[in-house]
Amino acid sequence: MRTRIHEKFKDLFGEGGVQYASAGRVNLIGEHTDYNGGYVFPGAIDCGIIAEIKVNGTDRVRAFSLDYNEEVTFGLNEEDKPSQAWACYIFGVCRETMKRGGKVAGFDTVFAGDVPLGAGLSSSAALESTFAFAIEDINKNGIDRFELAKIGQMTEHHYCGVNCGIMDQFASCFGKQGSLIRLNCKTMEYKYFPFNPQGYKLVLIDSCVKHELASSAYNKRRQSCENAAAHIRKNHPEIEFLSDCNRLWLDEVRSEIPEEDFLRAEYVIGEVQRVLDVCDALERGDYETVGEMMYQTHFGLSKLYEVSCEELDFLNKLARKMDVTGSRVMGGGFGGCTINLVKDELYQSFIDAAREQFAARFGHDPKIYDVVISDGARRLK
Ligand code: GLA
Repeated sequence: MRTRIHEKFKDLFGEGGVQYASAGRVNLIGEHTDYNGGYVFPGAIDCGIIAEIKVNGTDRVRAFSLDYNEEVTFGLNEEDKPSQAWACYIFGVCRETMKRGGKVAGFDTVFAGDVPLGAGLSSSAALESTFAFAIEDINKNGIDRFELAKIGQMTEHHYCGVNCGIMDQFASCFGKQGSLIRLNCKTMEYKYFPFNPQGYKLVLIDSCVKHELASSAYNKRRQSCENAAAHIRKNHPEIEFLSDCNRLWLDEVRSEIPEEDFLRAEYVIGEVQRVLDVCDALERGDYETVGEMMYQTHFGLSKLYEVSCEELDFLNKLARKMDVTGSRVMGGGFGGCTINLVKDELYQSFIDAAREQFAARFGHDPKIYDVVISDGARRLK
């Protein structure tokens, strides 16, 4: 990929470009907890975005996407927002940098990616973090990594219509080879956990289903949580986020809020606790408990949060039937992957069965990805 990018860059813009990269992410547990001030447990993975970049001495950006085989040029004022969705991410990152007082010198870029699109592996966060990091490295605005992650998140909010939490951009900015990161999304404290479970593999099974309207459904989930938290706050003014609440407090407001909001909040409160239980279990090397929590998360995401789908429920059931240690839908949901914690000796028969039975049931093959935990945003040598 690096060579292809470099060749195209040379053709279009000449020599002198520098390459930057960032990564997609997985999340062991802690789903839809980030925007509720809870914990998440992500790590960067070995697929991502690579961009070659060089300042061009103008106040414009010329960007070529190798994957779409398309070039877009845009200025850096608010009204210059490009119409191509992929270019909006880059534009948004430039704008958000400038809103923080940063300078963005016009640049030329060619980029490509190998994060499967729509798989719930955060190709968009990889794209945002690559450019946020590169722009910082080139312009030396003194913006730290936390703020780079925020730049990516606010790009989603202000330029892409998704009111996402911080997890994806955090993981792609802070990812470290071999480690998952437990992040407290309220205080932004984080801790690296070396993750190398002896005797187990983490494997993703991509349903290759991507549901329309996923972003509006996502935003709606967030609203439900905020509504539940607002009602609880009337009785308990000290709470800031839903993650500060307990089940009793939620029960107190059950009759005041739509049942749907109650179920969403019930899931979140359970999930916040599960992440902590998983941390304890990891410290003991107790992967059976980790796996059991993953199944509970899947149940919650499917039945209470309602972000799963038939295909993902099917893969989850199959994992359970085959005694896979843990399995659940990963990421925002509405399609994408399950993440599975599988004993080495079961690995081959599980993925064979998943391929065969999924194809027989849904008429198309799933995709299988082994998870390799890798580095996040960086300049390439
Ligand atoms: C998407 C969002 C994240 C997070 C997850 C669900 O990936 O971008 O902020 O909310 O969904 O955990």
